[in-house]
Amino acid sequence: MEVIIAPDRHKAALLVARIVAKELRADPRLVLGLATGRTMERVYACLVDLHRGEGLDFSVCSTFNLDEYIGIPADHPCSYRRYMDEHLFAQVNVAPGRTHLPDGMAPDLGAECRRYESLIQAAGGIGLQLLGIGSDGHIGFNEPLSALRSRTREKALTPSTLEQNAPMFGGDPAAVPRRAITMGVGTILDSRRCLMLVTGESKAAILAKAVEGPITSMVTASALQLHPRCQVVVDEEAAAHLQ
Ligand code: F6R
Repeated sequence: MEVIIAPDRHKAALLVARIVAKELRADPRLVLGLATGRTMERVYACLVDLHRGEGLDFSVCSTFNLDEYIGIPADHPCSYRRYMDEHLFAQVNVAPGRTHLPDGMAPDLGAECRRYESLIQAAGGIGLQLLGIGSDGHIGFNEPLSALRSRTREKALTPSTLEQNAPMFGGDPAAVPRRAITMGVGTILDSRRCLMLVTGESKAAILAKAVEGPITSMVTASALQLHPRCQVVVDEEAAAHLQ
C-alpha cells in the first residue's frame, strides 16, 4: 500500500483524477469502479474539467459503482444513480449503457447481487477501483464484521453510516435507507488497481487504523493492505494520525 500525502483536499482530488485520466488514456476501454460520497464529488468535478478542457474520452470505458441503497428508485434524488448522473455521467461522454449500479429495487435482491458480479466478470473485471472510506472504516458499504472474502450482497448499514450519510437526506438519519447492495471486500480486492481518496481531519483516526493497524474485518478498509497495487491519496488533515 502506497500512501501519497497532498497539501490539501483539492490537490488530493486533482491527483486522483489525473491518475484516472492517465489509466483511461492508456486504455480507453478501461473498466472503472466508482464510489459516491462527498469526498468523490471533487474527483468527478476534476474529471469533468479534464473532459471539457483536454478532451478526456469516456466513450468506450465501462463503469461499475460500488453500491446502491435498497428501497429507493433510481430517480430518487438521493439514489447513487442520481448522484452519478449529476456529478459525472451527464457531464462527460460515457455511454449510458456502459454505466452500471446495483438495482436496489430488484424484486429478488440475491439474484441482483449475483447478476452484478457476473456483469463485472463479463466485462473482464475492474481495472481501476476508486474508493472512499466511511467513518467506521467501511469501503463500499462493507460495514464492520464484513468477511474479507465477501462478494456483492445486501448489507445493513450501521448507525455511524446512517449518521454520516444523513446530510444527503435532509439531516435526518431516520430518512437514510437501512440497507444497501454493495460489492464485497473480496470483489474490491479482485480489482487490478485500487485508489482510495481520504480527506479531512474527521477521517484521520480511521485512516491510521486502516493503513497502519491490523488487517481486520472491523475496519474493512484495512483489507486493502493485502492488495498488490493500492494507492491511498490523502490530504495533510487526514494524514495527521499517521506515524
Ligand atoms: C459510497 C462508498 C462509501 C464512501 C464513504 C465515504 O459509494 O463507497 O464507502 O466512499 O462512505 O463517504 P464520504 O466521502 O461522503 O465521507
